Amino acid sequence: MTKIAVFASGSGSNFGAILQAIERKELDATVELLICDKPNAYVMERARQAGVDSFVFQAKSFSSKEQYERVILEQLQSKNVEWIVLAGYMRLIGTVLLTSYEKRIINIHPSLLPAFAGKDAVGQAIDYGVKVMGVTVHFVDEGMDTGPIISQQSFHVQGDMSRSVIEDQIHFIEHELYPETLQQLFTKKGVHMVNANERMEE
Ligand code: GAR
Repeated sequence: MTKIAVFASGSGSNFGAILQAIERKELDATVELLICDKPNAYVMERARQAGVDSFVFQAKSFSSKEQYERVILEQLQSKNVEWIVLAGYMRLIGTVLLTSYEKRIINIHPSLLPAFAGKDAVGQAIDYGVKVMGVTVHFVDEGMDTGPIISQQSFHVQGDMSRSVIEDQIHFIEHELYPETLQQLFTKKGVHMVNANERMEE
């Protein structure tokens, strides 16, 4: 059973999907802690309802990233957390956590990286007019959405898809791809590229 901490800043639908996958026994892990940098984020409510311990902080209360990451690290170590799983955590990870959790920090991003890194990846892709969109799970390094790619899943954008339909599709993919990829990582089965069309044929 792998002990993980989920880091999130927003609604936390991926946090919820991870908890559900654990409950369904599709992911052999326990969420020891939610780390959140936004006290009012809905993910906090999800953690409360699920009985998951949370640690909330505000970056502006600290003089540096190093300082708040040291506090987070203490929290992680007190719960023997083995892997850090970023799920809509909108901050770059700094040296303190990168050093202590080398190759054990994972992120999900709503684009086919390396295209459309950074904020509002979905908006960037829509504005560009791409016909294939998707989701990437990758190892985290010091850059913005730049670490080695672990898995990706694509879908074709139909002409009449509104932004909200596209976002629903992204979330639908994320909620399956993230727990699946984590399970493969934790059980060391290795990971592979997943294509949405293949999945639809399953
Ligand atoms: C997800 O779509 C995730 O891919 C994205 O934030 C959303 C969080 O949704 N992450 C990034 O953009 C990271 N660069 P959620 O709060 O409902 O899980």
